[in-house]
Amino acid sequence: MPAEDVNYILEPGRLSPSLVGSEPWQFLVLQNADLRQKLKPYCWGIPTMETSSHIVAVLAKKNARCDSDYFADIMVRRGLEGEAKDKAMAIYKKFQEEDIAILESERSLYDWAGKQTCIALAGMMAGTAVIGVDSFPIEGFSYKEVNQISADEGLFDPAEWEVSVMATFGYRAKEIRLKPRKPVEETVQRPNGLCAQTLCKNKTVRP
Ligand SMILES: Cc1cc2nc3c(=O)[nH]c(=O)nc-3n(C[C@H](O)[C@H](O)[C@H](O)COP(=O)(O)O)c2cc1C
Repeated sequence: MPAEDVNYILEPGRLSPSLVGSEPWQFLVLQNADLRQKLKPYCWGIPTMETSSHIVAVLAKKNARCDSDYFADIMVRRGLEGEAKDKAMAIYKKFQEEDIAILESERSLYDWAGKQTCIALAGMMAGTAVIGVDSFPIEGFSYKEVNQISADEGLFDPAEWEVSVMATFGYRAKEIRLKPRKPVEETVQRPNGLCAQTLCKNKTVRP
């Protein structure tokens, strides 16, 4: 894949929304063949770990507590200061402490960051589809080994970051099957009783 396509894919990830603009992610673009080969056995042996053009490993921020330096930087980036900053901080604190209650353990805090990384990943995958490049999301990997290998390579500071999810990107080598999916009636529930067709006819929602 040419560099401009890779940049095109990364951009919707970078621009992804995240809770309170926390952007608890970093994207590692992996092209090194040796490293990819080393990681492959710990990723269910997925062939595209070797054959794809690029792999993006999405790192999730560890310990993204609202009272951390990491959050202080976010406030600056978002132009929050003085009273506005105090107000925002009170909301974030209540959110992390009570609403979603993720300050109970490092793990729950990390999982929260990991949840945000999937939004960034989805953005990249959608961007990829627009330019006719395929993607393959990877969450089925041994977290311990993948993180150990990556950290040993000096790719990131394991005290601060952990690989949350990955995706391989490249051109399709063979045709793909039609995607089996649950029907829309099973997936979308409308408790107000209006069916999709009625809503469309009334122009309440776009078809
Ligand atoms: C976040 C995420 C992680 C995934 N991780 C893996 C994975 O590690 N290995 C794998 O074979 N498929 C993985 N998949 C692909 C799903 O298994 C796949 O989408 C599902 O089997 C349905 O296949 P289809 O989308 O081709 O219909 C992942 C999908 C998502 C959304």
